[in-house]
Order: sequence, then C-alpha cells, then structure tokens
Amino acid sequence: MFSVIKLTKTFGANTACDRVSFAVDAPKMIGIIGRSGAGKSTLLRMLNRLTDATSGEVIHEGRDILTLTGTAKRAWQSDCAMIFQQFNLVPRMDVVSNVLHCTLNRRSTLATMFNLYPTADIHRAIDILDRLGMAAHAPKRAEALSGGQQQRVAIARALMQDPKIILADEPIASLDPMNAQVVMEALRRIHEEDGRMVIANLHTLDTARRYCDRVIGMRDGRVVFDGTPEQLTTGVARDIYGADASFSEEATSTSIEALERSDAAARVIAEAKATV
Ligand SMILES: Nc1ncnc2c1ncn2[C@@H]1O[C@H](COP(=O)(O)OP(=O)(O)OP(=O)(O)O)[C@@H](O)[C@H]1O
Ligand SMILES: [Mg+2]
Repeated sequence: MFSVIKLTKTFGANTACDRVSFAVDAPKMIGIIGRSGAGKSTLLRMLNRLTDATSGEVIHEGRDILTLTGTAKRAWQSDCAMIFQQFNLVPRMDVVSNVLHCTLNRRSTLATMFNLYPTADIHRAIDILDRLGMAAHAPKRAEALSGGQQQRVAIARALMQDPKIILADEPIASLDPMNAQVVMEALRRIHEEDGRMVIANLHTLDTARRYCDRVIGMRDGRVVFDGTPEQLTTGVARDIYGADASFSEEATSTSIEALERSDAAARVIAEAKATV
C-alpha cells in the first residue's frame, strides 16, 4: 500500500536521507529509530510533503505522491496527519476549537470570524476527544493542560482529518514516562481499532520494541535495520546508534547496558539449563 523508493534529501553537501527504501503492505505501526541527525524528521517531512525530496519516489495506492501539486497535494497532506513533539496547539484557544481547527479551510470567512462550527463537527470533535479520555477537558484552554493531555488533543486534531496515515515526530520526547505511556497506548489503539498506519520517530528503543510491529533503524541518512522488534538485538542497536558514548541512558531508556544485562541473564539461564 505504500512504497518508499530511494528517497533522498540533500542540504548542500549534507545528505540527510540517503536512498531510503522500504515498503509496507498493510497498515502497520512502524517505529523509526536512530541517533540525532540520522534523518528521521527529514524522512517524515518528505512523506507528507512538508519538505521536497531531492530524488526518489513515494508510491501510495499507485501514485507517486511526490509529484502531487495544488489540491491533490493538500488532499495527501490531509490523508497523512502529522503529530509533533511540541504538540503545536494554539495555547490560548480551547481544546475543542483546537481539534476543530483543521476544518477551517472548509468554512466561509464569516463562519471562521465568528468561530461558528457546524454542530455535527463539534459532536465529532467531542466524540474523538472522548475516545482519548479528553472530553471533560473540551472547554479548557489548551495551555491549561499537561503535556500528555496536550498531545492527546493533538492526536484528536489529527483524527479529525480522518487520515489514512499518522506521522508522529517524537510524539513522547517531551513527556514524563507516565504520560508517554498514555500517548503511545492511544496511538497503538487508534492503529488497532481504526486500521490506520502509524509511523513514529521514537527516541527510545524500548518504546519502539513495545508498541511497534516493525522498526526501521536509520544511521547517517541510511536505513541500516528494518525488521521486527525481536530482531532488534543488542548488536543491531549498537550498529544503529553507533557504539560511542552518545548512546546513553538519557537518549534511550532501554540502554545497551540493560540489553546486555538481559542478554547476560539469558546466557546464565542457558548455561544453568545446560548443566542440568
Ligand atoms: N532545513 C535544513 N537545512 C539544513 N540541514 C538540515 C535541515 N533539516 C535537517 N538538516 C540536516 O539533516 C540531517 C538530518 O536531520 P533530521 O532533523 O532529519 O535528523 P533527526 O534524525 O530527526 O534528528 P533528531 O533526533 O535530532 O530529531 C542533519 O544533519 C541536519 O542537520
Ligand atoms: Mg528529528
């Protein structure tokens, strides 16, 4: 349903994405991991046409979406909603208006000026907020909410577009572990219940392992791993992140050390079994 073929983006002499290729045959939940500067955000931005690719193709339902212009390009951008680390809500506006904001381009200037939304849209927005456990917060200003709550509002806003694909760029990087879990569970549930594809840039290995069906590892703009969470072994993680000190507890809550501990534990168990 979706093929990325040799997708490349250069900024001057710097190649941010280098012939990135992968294909998805069913709506999966895909995690993209890699160290800072690996090209993860650039990849997502090219997929929804926020950034123009230098070369390559992105085939979705038989069309190369990189060639779309005007209305067709905007329709594609509406089909693949973007969620950002910093939520990008309008802080002083109430929650339900934030969710309804994406419907603005469908309405007249007068209706927009007076903040008049069709009742059916308001009901839909409340239903979506309810799905995310946020309906009670609908009248509050966005700025009055916690980060996790704001991100759930941002997900609700994305769902209001009824997208086929949700692209999330580090959706939990600004959240504490509790809120991070709530937001990842919300994304997973949307994926499972609605059959929407989710592609999320994630900065922690354990999040990718826990919530994704497939993990793509990027290094220096290139795909260096593409497989299941089970195939993401310690050695592979080292290769993706590089074996230097930048791969730290701070960058990923499942550190190499933790993986090694579990590998070591597995070895001890295997040895114990062998001696029985
Ligand atoms: N607009 C831009 N102009 C010039 N260089 C850019 C631009 N955007 C990204 N780059 C460069 O492209 C490379 C990839 O950047 P990108 O933001 O995609 O990485 P990332 O994997 O998302 O990193 P992070 O984990 O820090 O968000 C980096 O070297 C970056 O400096
Ligand atoms: Mg990024």
